[in-house]
Amino acid sequence: MPGVTADVATPEHLPAPVGRWAAGLPAEAVWRNELGGVTYRLGPPGSPARYVKVEDVGPEWDPAAVVARLRWAHRYVPVPVPVAHGRASGAAGPRAWLVTQAAAGESAVAPRHARRPGTTVPALGRALRAFHDAVPARDCPFSWSVADRIARMGLDPARADGMPALDPVVCHGDACSPNFLLDDAGRPCGYVDLGALGVADRWADLAPALASLQWNYGPGWEPAFLDAYGVDADPGKRAFYWRLWDAEPTADAGRAAQAAPAASDEGAVPG
Ligand SMILES: Nc1ncnc2c1ncn2[C@@H]1O[C@H](COP(=O)(O)OP(=O)(O)OP(=O)(O)O)[C@@H](O)[C@H]1O
Ligand SMILES: [Mg+2]
Repeated sequence: MPGVTADVATPEHLPAPVGRWAAGLPAEAVWRNELGGVTYRLGPPGSPARYVKVEDVGPEWDPAAVVARLRWAHRYVPVPVPVAHGRASGAAGPRAWLVTQAAAGESAVAPRHARRPGTTVPALGRALRAFHDAVPARDCPFSWSVADRIARMGLDPARADGMPALDPVVCHGDACSPNFLLDDAGRPCGYVDLGALGVADRWADLAPALASLQWNYGPGWEPAFLDAYGVDADPGKRAFYWRLWDAEPTADAGRAAQAAPAASDEGAVPG
């Protein structure tokens, strides 16, 4: 990942129960998010076997919710297969972890894809459209509605004022560039980070997806994304859903791509 200096984890970086899944495999920290959550790749370089994410428990991090969504969504779109999840006590309170099988492809912000935004950005637009077209809203048991987000995040109920007319789809829930996987040819091949997946207006995904382009590829890529997605710009909806996204505690629009390396101060955590 750009800006993320890989940090080889020792077993004590990981909550004890994760050691069972990491046994005998090299573990390398590859991602640190805005809340200090760290994702490790387990396995030899170039052919990872599994990924494990560890983060303090909070409204944005509930591995059981992620697993439920992965198990439901996999029949419609390529998503990681969950392996195991659990909780462990940490110095700052409870932490939760999730192990998934490595999915095919590489993040759209990996250097080889970030270097060619003329290919990558349209691929991201197509990928989000394919997700919205493939996952059926009528059968989806999960909500990402404005009201549910406000309640979950403890936001001011006035955030719902002026909500535009709904065009419901199953949203990814964190449609920032790093959460899309591309194959060697730069084509969309998978989706990660689905803990907020649920029915909402398509602009709930489009607003952070557009903002994320700037952070990851520089200015000026929004028209190419919207064209590939196949929708006209809608400044009113975009502004409404951007304000909501930006009010949430973890709003980062994929900025974690430039985050600090995973620190080596992850203490040993009894399982
Ligand atoms: N099963 C998997 N297969 C392939 N890559 C994965 C897998 N799980 C995680 N990754 C990689 O690790 C990165 C971080 O994982 P993930 O998005 O779940 O963490 P996060 O901390 O929730 O991210 P964010 O900063 O978006 O909140 C992903 O962008 C992806 O590149
Ligand atoms: Mg992510």
